[in-house]
Amino acid sequence: MTTSARRYLITGASRGLGLEFVRQLLGRGDRVVAACRKPGESLALTRLAGEHPGHLHVLPLDVTNARSRAELIKEVQALWGALDVLINNAGVLAENDRTPHLGQLDADHFRQAFETNTLGPLFLCEAALPLLAKGESARVAYISSTLGSIAGVSRLYTPSYSVSKAALNMAARLVAFPLGEQGIRSVSLHPGWVQTDMGGPGAPLQAQDSVAGLLQVIDHLPADARGEFLDYQGKPQPW
Ligand SMILES: NC(=O)c1ccc[n+]([C@@H]2O[C@H](COP(=O)([O-])OP(=O)(O)OC[C@H]3O[C@@H](n4cnc5c(N)ncnc54)[C@H](OP(=O)(O)O)[C@@H]3O)[C@@H](O)[C@H]2O)c1
Repeated sequence: MTTSARRYLITGASRGLGLEFVRQLLGRGDRVVAACRKPGESLALTRLAGEHPGHLHVLPLDVTNARSRAELIKEVQALWGALDVLINNAGVLAENDRTPHLGQLDADHFRQAFETNTLGPLFLCEAALPLLAKGESARVAYISSTLGSIAGVSRLYTPSYSVSKAALNMAARLVAFPLGEQGIRSVSLHPGWVQTDMGGPGAPLQAQDSVAGLLQVIDHLPADARGEFLDYQGKPQPW
């Protein structure tokens, strides 16, 4: 894939991996819509917008909100009229849902995780379809997690998050086929365990290294990519 001035939409761009995607894409000359809940409050994005005039647009998105998704897509339509790459990165892991016991499961955590990690990416992708269909060698990446891998489960850990990411993988795989019919490649990606607010300070990977790997994988997706589940080094992950 040529990497010159392609048009990217990144969700959850205020911090963590999303912000690092924005940094690296701007660094190589691409054009970016950085979508986040409170655009005015991300100083890092404001600074990047100043450093890359015309290449970065910071727009509001609450990925759980249908109207917000539709407004964002309308803005991207007005800006570019097409979209080359959608990176569904926004995600949530409720802190006190990491190691619950049976009897402590919290339905609100499940609802929030499902709305944010599963339905948000799925319906944003659906809303973006007309733009992606007009994109060049278009692709969709869903930032998932091996915590959503059913094959890897050996204890009760992060249940709301894990269920939502397993469902995301399924959603991504299901819609990959109609996307593929329109020439749009798609993939679910595990970024590794990364030092961000979500990953925590003990994580072995830096955001720069994870995102550099993820972009390599997205850049080199084959034409027949249909929602496979890969890690940031392109290695297939068990469902
Ligand atoms: N870090 C890891 O080790 C790791 C491992 C596996 C998978 N992942 C996945 O990687 C992705 C990025 O994670 P991260 O580590 O960068 O997490 P993070 O530092 O906690 O950042 C999460 C991002 O998602 C945004 N977000 C949350 N809910 C949202 C909503 N309703 N609408 C729009 N944006 C929303 C946050 O925005 P606000 O600033 O507004 O809260 C923030 O920008 C997630 O999908 C996560 O599940 C991370």
